[in-house]
Amino acid sequence: MSQLEVIIRARRTAYDFASEPLEPDMLRSLCDVAVCAPNHRRTAPWRFVVLGQQSRATLTRLAADQAGGGAEARAKAALKWEKIGAVMALFSVSTKPDDVEVVREDYAACACAAQNLLLLLWERGLAAQWCTGKVTRLPELRQLIGCGERDTFVGLFRIGVPLEVPELPNRPHDPNLVRDLP
Ligand SMILES: Cc1cc2nc3c(=O)[nH]c(=O)nc-3n(C[C@H](O)[C@H](O)[C@H](O)COP(=O)(O)O)c2cc1C
Repeated sequence: MSQLEVIIRARRTAYDFASEPLEPDMLRSLCDVAVCAPNHRRTAPWRFVVLGQQSRATLTRLAADQAGGGAEARAKAALKWEKIGAVMALFSVSTKPDDVEVVREDYAACACAAQNLLLLLWERGLAAQWCTGKVTRLPELRQLIGCGERDTFVGLFRIGVPLEVPELPNRPHDPNLVRDLP
């Protein structure tokens, strides 16, 4: 198996991370590589954001508020965004917001870049959780990361050294995966 195949097959979403902070420079350099992705019309729609201390504190507060309920629920939601090495966001900037085809293609290009980022992290012993949950849909969150009304949010990424990696799922060969045409 090639090294690339090993990484693609082994990568998993992680949920529990060590708190030690990751170097923003390292994350920025991975983004530089990640955007070597297919991109129709070369629109370069990807906008990565590395959240610093202040913006992470805002995100943590938003997540706690979103959780509602009692102190325990708030603390649990906050911990999810505190106990990680880094938080990044990715959105697709609207290059032609009225053209649904371009919007779709730009989002697809960003998803390719996101997968590249996940694989590059994995190669370095790091993992991530791609998040599109409730907190990511708050207008305050979009404002925090600079995702305009006509831009397309792609995800928040909780990143760090994984404390636990879910077992590899059973991926049986699917005979219908590829259909050959005569
Ligand atoms: C567009 C997108 C959105 C996702 N949103 C979430 C999310 O909100 N919460 C979460 O735990 N995982 C999220 N994931 C991760 C998937 O749940 C995960 O990839 C899936 O369970 C397969 O596991 P694996 O990544 O370990 O192969 C998202 C993945 C994608 C591609």
